[in-house]
Amino acid sequence: MKADHRGMHGIWASRWTFILAAVGSAVGLGNIWKFPYITGEYGGGAFVLVYLICVLAVGIPVMMAEILLGRKARMSPVHTMERLTTQYKAPKLFAGIGWMGAVSGFFILSFYSVIAGWILYYVYKMATGFFTGAEGALAEATFGGLLANPLRLTVLHTLFMLLVGVVIARGIHRGLENTLRLLMPVLFVMLLVLLGYSLTTPGFEQGWDFLFRFEPEKLTTEAVIVALGHSFFTLSLGMGAIMAYGAYMPAGQPLGQTVLIVGFVDTLVALVAGLVIFPIVFTHGLEPGAGPGLMFQTLPVALGALPGGVVIGTVFFVLVLIAAWSSAISIAEPAVAWAVEKGFSRARATVFVCSLAWALGLGTVFSFNDWSQNQAFVTVTELNEAGDAVGSEFYLYAAVDDLKKAKEVTGGTYEIKGKTLFDIFDFLTTNILLPLGGVLIALFTGWFMSRSSVEDEARLASQHLFAVWRFMIRFVSPAAILLVLYNGLF
Ligand code: PFF
Repeated sequence: MKADHRGMHGIWASRWTFILAAVGSAVGLGNIWKFPYITGEYGGGAFVLVYLICVLAVGIPVMMAEILLGRKARMSPVHTMERLTTQYKAPKLFAGIGWMGAVSGFFILSFYSVIAGWILYYVYKMATGFFTGAEGALAEATFGGLLANPLRLTVLHTLFMLLVGVVIARGIHRGLENTLRLLMPVLFVMLLVLLGYSLTTPGFEQGWDFLFRFEPEKLTTEAVIVALGHSFFTLSLGMGAIMAYGAYMPAGQPLGQTVLIVGFVDTLVALVAGLVIFPIVFTHGLEPGAGPGLMFQTLPVALGALPGGVVIGTVFFVLVLIAAWSSAISIAEPAVAWAVEKGFSRARATVFVCSLAWALGLGTVFSFNDWSQNQAFVTVTELNEAGDAVGSEFYLYAAVDDLKKAKEVTGGTYEIKGKTLFDIFDFLTTNILLPLGGVLIALFTGWFMSRSSVEDEARLASQHLFAVWRFMIRFVSPAAILLVLYNGLF
C-alpha cells in the first residue's frame, strides 16, 4: 500500500465541493421516493417527529464522526478502520466497520439501482406525454405493468448501473463534480416549483396535517426502528460512504458547519418532497399508505394535469434520476476505493463492484413479480369483526398465495404480512446494518480515540460545542441506537 493515498484518490477542490458531494450523496431516492412512502405507511406526523429527532440526536453527530475518521486516515473505509483500530489500540471488532459497510453497500446499491431504473422508465413515459390528462387508474396500471415485467426491470436496472459505472470509473473529479455543481441547484428550483403547485391544490392542508400532526397512538416500535434506520439511509451514514468522501476533504477545514449544512439540506428536501406528494395524494383521493409505488402513481397524475406538464414532469424525473445517480456513486465509492488501494485499476474496480451489485439486484427485480409470493418472516394475524387481533401465527418462510388460499378455506378475516427479498435487503441494511455501523462508529470515536486528536480533527467553533458533540457521540447516540435496535430485534 502506498504511504500517501491522497494522490491515489484525489482531494476535493474545496470544502464546498465536499458539501456538494455529500449533499449529492445524501439527497437521493431516500428523500424523494422513500421518505414520503414510509411516512405514509407509518402514519404520518408521529413518524416524521421521530425521524427529525433521530437526525438531530444521532445522524448529525455520527456524520461528523464519519468525516473525521475518513479524513484522519485518508483511505477507503476498510483500510481507514483497520489503520485507526491499530493506531488507537481498539478491539479488532472496530476494524469490521469498514467491511460491514462494504457488505451493506453492495446490498443497498443492488436495490437502489433497480428503483432508479423505474425512474428511467418514468422519464421516458413523461417525455412522450403518456401521462397527459391521465387518471389515477392509468397511473396505477402503468406502474403495476412495469413491476410485472422482469425483463424490462432488468434492462432498466442494467442501464442505470452502467450510468453509475461510467462516472465512477472516471474518478470523482472528472464528470461528477462539474455535473453536480450545475444540477443540484436545478433540483432545488424544480422542487420549489412543484411545491408551489401543490400549495394550490385543495389537498394541501390535509397533506400538511398528515405530515406534521402528532398522533402518538400511531407510533409503533417498528415505526421507531424504521425512522432511525431511515435517518441513517437518507444521510448516507453507517456504511462508509460519507467516510470515504471525508477522506477526500481538504485538511484543516472545520466540520461543524459543514455537517449542519448537509443535514439541513437533506432534511429540507425530504420535507418538501412530502409536501409535494401528500397534497397531491389527497387531492386525487389516493391512499397515503400505497407503499413503494406512492411516487409513481400519484405524481404522474398531477404532472399530467399541469399545463406544460410534459416538460415539468420530464425535468422532474430527470432530476430525481440525477439525485439517485449522485447517491449511487457514493454507495459504490468505498468498495471501489478499497479495490484501488489493493492495486486494481479504477476501471477494473468499478467493473467488479458494479457487476456484483447488479447480480444481487436481480433478487430485487424478481421480488416484484415471479418471486413476490415467496416471503420470509410471515405473520398471519386473525382479526375479529371489530378489526382487533385475536390470534397470530408466524412462519419463517411461506408461499403467501398458498397461505391465503388455505385461510380462505378456514374462513374468518386474516391479515398476512411478510417480507420479499427486496424487503429483506432493505430492512437488513437500512434498519439493522446501518444503525449497527453507526453505533460502532460512535463508540470508536467517543471512547477509543484520544480527546485531543478528535478535537484537533473536528475543529469545532468553540470548546463548548465540542463538549456537546462529544457527549452526544459517547452517550446519547450509541444509547439511542442500541435501545431501538434491541427493542426491535428482541
Ligand atoms: N442517502 C441516499 C438517499 O437518501 O437516497 C442513499 C444512500 C447513499 C444510502 C449512500 C447510503 C449511502 F451510503
